Amino acid sequence: MQRTLIIFKPDCVQRRLVGSILQRFEAKGLRLVALKLIKVDRALGEKHYAEHKGKPFFEGLISFITASPVVVGVLEGNEAIAVVRTMLGATNGAAAAPGTIRGDYSISKQNNLVHGSDSPESAEREIALWFNPAELADYTIEGESWVSAGS
Ligand code: RTP
Ligand code: MG
Repeated sequence: MQRTLIIFKPDCVQRRLVGSILQRFEAKGLRLVALKLIKVDRALGEKHYAEHKGKPFFEGLISFITASPVVVGVLEGNEAIAVVRTMLGATNGAAAAPGTIRGDYSISKQNNLVHGSDSPESAEREIALWFNPAELADYTIEGESWVSAGS
């Protein structure tokens, strides 16, 4: 089992798409470990996107991510990191394949609705950045084996 961080970005909240997209992750077989709505301040935005500091789009990205509340969560499941990235599709919504979240709902490079951790190292760093350990729930879902057996 693997954990990954997801962020329903400000455009996703403003477009009232959080529920529809969360439903896709649940239907896939991923389960919620944590979920909260927060207003991101500049320091948190800069820490989250630290790898992009100095790039031409960085200032715009920080303005975007701090412009309106986000819903941030942790999902768990078999190969959760790669599964979420595949479901998101390419970064640029205009190029993302139909059937992916960005391909179905976004036509923008920046406003691409949802973030997903890109590696186990990123997932560990990002989950620790956004959540206290006490906010991460350990529990079982009855019938989990019908979703994940043989993985
Ligand atoms: P994310 O980190 O949000 O899951 O997206 P990603 O891995 O697919 O893309 P990444 O290269 O990490 O870029 C982070 C976010 O910055 C915005 N961006 N804008 N205007 C631009 O050229 C540009 N390039 C990237 C997007 O919001 C992207 O998701
Ligand atoms: Mg990224």
